[in-house]
Amino acid sequence: MARVVIHKEKGPMEIKVGKETKAICMCGLSKNKPFCDGSHNQTLDEQEGKIYKYDNNGKRTEVKNF
Ligand code: FES
Repeated sequence: MARVVIHKEKGPMEIKVGKETKAICMCGLSKNKPFCDGSHNQTLDEQEGKIYKYDNNGKRTEVKNF
């Protein structure tokens, strides 16, 4: 079974765990979920109003008919 999940965030959410700060992936692209691995940098030049798809290698394509 497969599903499409849309993520709109372009960066992590920081949470406190004891005295440590952890960055939780909110963009959906991290290969180290639930933690941010910096992959969100790929989203920084996305254009408003467009939808993109990323493959497992980080290659981005625009979704035209969604
Ligand atoms: S927020 Fe997803 S990799 Fe950083």
